[in-house]
Amino acid sequence: MLKIEELRRKHPLMLQLSYPSPDPDYAELVVRALEELGVEALMLENPVRLKLIGKGFRNIVLIGLRGGVRVALKVRRLDYAVKSTYREAYMLEQANRIGVGPRLLGHCDPVLVMSLVEGVDLTKWLVHSNPPSHTARQTILEAALQCHRLDRAGIDHRELSDASKHVIVTQSGPVIIDFGSAGFSSRPKNLTSLLNYIGSKGLERVRRDLGLHKVERQTLRRYKETYSEKDFEALLSELKLL
Ligand SMILES: Nc1ncnc2c1ncn2[C@@H]1O[C@H](COP(=O)(O)OP(=O)(O)OP(=O)(O)O)[C@@H](O)[C@H]1O
Ligand SMILES: [Mg+2]
Repeated sequence: MLKIEELRRKHPLMLQLSYPSPDPDYAELVVRALEELGVEALMLENPVRLKLIGKGFRNIVLIGLRGGVRVALKVRRLDYAVKSTYREAYMLEQANRIGVGPRLLGHCDPVLVMSLVEGVDLTKWLVHSNPPSHTARQTILEAALQCHRLDRAGIDHRELSDASKHVIVTQSGPVIIDFGSAGFSSRPKNLTSLLNYIGSKGLERVRRDLGLHKVERQTLRRYKETYSEKDFEALLSELKLL
């Protein structure tokens, strides 16, 4: 771990906060935000590199220390037009209210602090880690429930069709991450996206092993008209998850 005060004295490391190109002014803005947010230190990969746990099209994700606890820091890339994390923080906060997503711990300008989600992505977990059947079914059920809660709250994640990227399986269950594209909608597609993913070609063997069936378009359409508990349960039983 590198303390934030020391970061200021180690210019090449500090410049890594400005990705993909090292802009001193932007790096300074990020450091100020980290200080404002009470981040005490950043994790290093080696003495000359910050540890990046994620590199997306719009952000880099680092590990920091805050209040002595390891946290995830999402930092806007210099080449992404939306530098503020305000809207994403707002959407994550809404998701947190229904118990979904990593816990939002703070946000300031181009930095968002949240709880660190430790685990593996859903596809890797389902396809390559051979979880016991009942654990896998339980995890899919829990992910479906979270999608249903988002649907009912009118929050559309918008990036769950490739659920593998945005559902992380931890010791205590699945966590849906990245509310960067989320928005309010009267016809959210969270559960629909998750079920399309479960029904996809790559998961054929997993479906067979777990005894899951594809759901009919008709049943999905009915669910999307009401988002009711009854239609949700109908979907789950058609999937053979209940
Ligand atoms: N709270 C977290 N805890 C642990 N890892 C995280 C957390 N948030 C994000 N990550 C990691 O960082 C990666 C990128 O995060 P995220 O998807 O939020 O960024 P992004 O810039 O929107 O990426 P993309 O543009 O590719 O969707 C994730 O795939 C995940 O591996
Ligand atoms: Mg993402």
